[in-house]
Amino acid sequence: MNHPPPPQRTAMQPDGSRLIKFFFGEELPFVSHGRGVFVYDTDGRRYLDGCSGAVTASLGHSDPEVLRAMREQAERITFAHRGTFHNAQAEQLAERLGAMTGYPYVFLCNSGSEAVETALRLTLQYWRERGEPERARFVSHAVSYHGATLGGLSLSGHPQRRWVAEALLHGFNELTPPYAYRFAQGRDDAAFTAFLTQGAARVLDSHGPAAAGVVVEPVGGAAGGAITPPDGYLPALAGLCRERGLPLIADEIMTGLGRTGTILAAQHWGVRPDLVVLGKGMGAGYAPVSAVLVSEHVIDTIAAGTASVTNGHTYGGNPLGSAVGLAVLEAIESRDLVANAATRGKQLRAGLENLAGRHEVIGEVRGLGLLQGLELVSDRATRSPGEPVGSLTRAIVLAARDHGLLLYPATGGINDAVLVAPPLTITAEETDLLLELLDGALTTLKSPLT
Ligand SMILES: Cc1ncc(COP(=O)(O)O)c(C=O)c1O
Repeated sequence: MNHPPPPQRTAMQPDGSRLIKFFFGEELPFVSHGRGVFVYDTDGRRYLDGCSGAVTASLGHSDPEVLRAMREQAERITFAHRGTFHNAQAEQLAERLGAMTGYPYVFLCNSGSEAVETALRLTLQYWRERGEPERARFVSHAVSYHGATLGGLSLSGHPQRRWVAEALLHGFNELTPPYAYRFAQGRDDAAFTAFLTQGAARVLDSHGPAAAGVVVEPVGGAAGGAITPPDGYLPALAGLCRERGLPLIADEIMTGLGRTGTILAAQHWGVRPDLVVLGKGMGAGYAPVSAVLVSEHVIDTIAAGTASVTNGHTYGGNPLGSAVGLAVLEAIESRDLVANAATRGKQLRAGLENLAGRHEVIGEVRGLGLLQGLELVSDRATRSPGEPVGSLTRAIVLAARDHGLLLYPATGGINDAVLVAPPLTITAEETDLLLELLDGALTTLKSPLT
């Protein structure tokens, strides 16, 4: 058979690649392999993975136990559709997740965005089964990221990611973000909490019988960088939801399964959301696995009605992904990685604060456990971000890479920030090395304070 000649390459891909890239024409190293917290490129350069890829590779790379579980499952069966077969791996994964988090029911998906959509759909179904189909208005924060699908983007306060789809999006992202550095305007924690809570109550009440639920990242990740709310805020938001009978949905795709030093980040504030969304660290980079944890009253309502959740995704709960998820949870528990995240998180935080004392570009250090963020500023007094916004983020990510350290850009379009979020397996020596490499990278940006 004669194939037509390949179309001409465009000037936008000067390296001749046919693959559509993040930034057209950007030169990036080619990855070769990974071992533990280190990743190697095809030129033999080593990088300390200071951001677990995209806050995903919680166990580091090439973990032998996860690889063994993958191989064993792959040799038995990799795929069976949830509409045709039950499979033991998905059952065990749901059982284990429930035991670790205290949630009785689990819906399995593949990506974080799919799981966010599923949480929205489950909530909409809950309201329909209760005879209130008009409840379809979700509420989220003005600086946030909840996924690249239309529901996830509708929730997201992330101008850089929203703009392309804006015509199809809802403006769910109405709430003032619990981002003290830019929004507290001189208020102390208690006053800022009161301000945020009163604002949230006003927004929820403005939607009256249309309000469906609140979606929140307990610690904000990709938009803004480890935005950590004042202590009273999450409990107050949960209280507002409870008073109005609205489900609280915690998007713990980045924060869940140990990242912040507790199994779920909401536990730092004693909050039990009605639904919890997990992703990223659940497959830990070994397979795309995500989940929605669901409380009894949501499922009981559905069980008393249609008793079915038919929307799903082809690969959701497949045996291979589920076996990987199970091996990841087993590793988190048997190696005590939640406690390690708390301990190494303290070491990392102290080291970052020390760096902030010497590098003027760091406006704030924030975060919990091994989800730490650096707010980057061109002027500490005015708290101005880079000019243009995003330029400082890019500069530090590139400088760090040159020094053999990977950082995650977390600018949401209004600030400059990076996430420092190494694998939960990181040792004390590797944490020291991370800080040393970061110090070197920061030094090339600006001379240290004297
Ligand atoms: C809090 C949060 N929600 C949702 C998502 C979307 O997940 P995914 O990229 O796996 O679709 C992300 C990804 O960065 C995230 O951090």
